[in-house]
Parts: sequence; C-alpha cells; structure tokens
Amino acid sequence: MAKLPILEFPDERLRTKAVAVETVDDEVRQLVDDMLETMYDARGIGLAATQIDVHRRVVVMDVSDDNSQPLVLINPRYEPMGEEKEPLSEGCLSIPEYYAEVPRFLKVKLNALDRNGEPYELEADGLLAHCIQHEYDHLEGVLFVDYLSSLKRDRVMRKMQKRHKLMQDA
Ligand code: NI
Repeated sequence: MAKLPILEFPDERLRTKAVAVETVDDEVRQLVDDMLETMYDARGIGLAATQIDVHRRVVVMDVSDDNSQPLVLINPRYEPMGEEKEPLSEGCLSIPEYYAEVPRFLKVKLNALDRNGEPYELEADGLLAHCIQHEYDHLEGVLFVDYLSSLKRDRVMRKMQKRHKLMQDA
C-alpha cells in the first residue's frame, strides 16, 4: 500500500468532475487500499479520489472512533429521505484546520458498489449521512466552503495561501 499526497484548496484540480468506474478490478482495489491508508494516516473520516488527483468515482470513509468500520463507495449515489436538513460542523483533509457548519440532509439512502464490485444499499443519518454528502460533492468538484458566504470563503482562501507559502519557504 502507499500513502498519497492530498490536494489542498484552492487547487483547481479539486474542481474536476470524476468519471464513473466501469469495472472494479485489482487496480481499483489497489486505489481503494491506498486511499484508506492515506485517510487513516491523515486522521480523516472520509476521502474522495478527487482529493488525491484521481478523477474516478471512488470514496472511502470510516466514521467509527477506532478505525474499525471502513466503508468503500464506488460510483455512489444518494437520495435524501425527507426534506429535513441539519447543520453540522465539517472539516476536510483538503482544507486543513478549518471547520464550519454546513446544513445537509438529515437522512439519506446510499447506493454504491463495494470493494468487490457488489452493489449495496445503506440508510444513513447523522455524521455518516453528512459524510456521504460531503464526499459525493468532491466527486462533483464541490467543496464545503462553497456553501459559505463569499466573505468567509475569501478568509479561508487567504489562510490557505498563507499556509502554502509557509510550506514553500520552510
Ligand atoms: Ni473533504
């Protein structure tokens, strides 16, 4: 397995729309394993392939406290179950050290393929439902800061530019 570098906002490559996976083969399974390793190493609860500059519809997640429940979402789709939304504080491995509340559907029904290419369905609420919507957005080139006011987004942008400059100078 290999740990992969994560793209950071405002990198334009994060705006790429990912394409569907046609066949879940060994190459895709290797990608999934590398993404899980990268996500756990970065202490994240979700990672979309977009974030490692691979523009295919693959997501990994684990919202458990002890990294015991890896979830693989290949070609995911979801539908809201009801109209209700709730705000929850979100972060993103592509926007380190920044958190903001984003309203998302409270409950969603997920359809995806697993690591073996088998289709499954899952009803999710709370943190998992939020995470599914956040990661799905990545595949569409959307980031959670897009839901904030332009004032807040500009502030995040400046913070990230400062961070990248510090990293370059170091
Ligand atoms: Ni994210």
